[in-house]
Amino acid sequence: MLKYGLIGDPIDHSKSPQMQTAALKAAGINGEYRLLNQSGEALATIVARLRAENVAGFNVTTPFKQAIIPYLDGIDVVAETIAAVNTVVNVDGRWIGYSTDGPGFWQSLPTTTRKQKVALIGAGGAAKSLISACPANVELTVYNRESVNFNVYATQLKAIADLELQPLSQLTTDIANFDIVINATSVGLHDNVSVLAEAMLALLPTTALVVDLVYKHEQTAFLAAAVATGHATLGGLPMLVMQGALSFTLWHQQPANIEKMQQSLV
Ligand code: ATR
Repeated sequence: MLKYGLIGDPIDHSKSPQMQTAALKAAGINGEYRLLNQSGEALATIVARLRAENVAGFNVTTPFKQAIIPYLDGIDVVAETIAAVNTVVNVDGRWIGYSTDGPGFWQSLPTTTRKQKVALIGAGGAAKSLISACPANVELTVYNRESVNFNVYATQLKAIADLELQPLSQLTTDIANFDIVINATSVGLHDNVSVLAEAMLALLPTTALVVDLVYKHEQTAFLAAAVATGHATLGGLPMLVMQGALSFTLWHQQPANIEKMQQSLV
């Protein structure tokens, strides 16, 4: 039986095992997908075990997305650009790293070929995976609070996508111009706070879509504010499914049954 799974810390609440198991079953593949480490284990120990078990592939989540890179035998250009890997494929004993987070995100949005003006809030790991995979019809403006990280992010964005990072305070002036606003910060993950005040979202055209990368069972404060201002919203779940579906395709060279993956989450 082919072995797949997930490494990260914490991973106990991950939805990946149920999603990937549903996709394996739908495709009739003789494989299993499970959590591959305990909390507190060192990455070197985990890697040695996965090598010994000859796992066929695995997903990588926080805090190992960058730390896994020195253990790989090859890396895809998108993953190398953002220095983050969320999918590893074992090709005849060689571990190759990819990032499906960014492509998964853009594929989870309603499709349009029309030019889209998109405001992205945040410039950390999640934001950079989106930036590196940005489709041609998207005109992206990235905002971050003026923290100690601002200048580092600004340099990274210039190098990754030739973008000028904007201070978050500037969004008040700009917000009326956007078709989509995305929260790619960690605000709302461990608290019930919205990165933008409702009064700010009220300045966004009512036709605009408001997206939160934070995935929670209950609605995030950011999306609750967007609903209150009459905007259409999209949570982090579709992205979770799409990045998983793209990992599945990298491992099995066939499309995943997205409907079955979605159904496994309800
Ligand atoms: P992830 O991998 O989930 O993206 P990260 O790389 O730590 O996590 O990035 C978190 C993002 O949320 C950053 O853009 C961060 O901005 P700073 O680095 O300037 O803190 C942003 N963020 C975190 N807390 C925030 C807050 N209270 N208000 C606005 N942005 C915040």
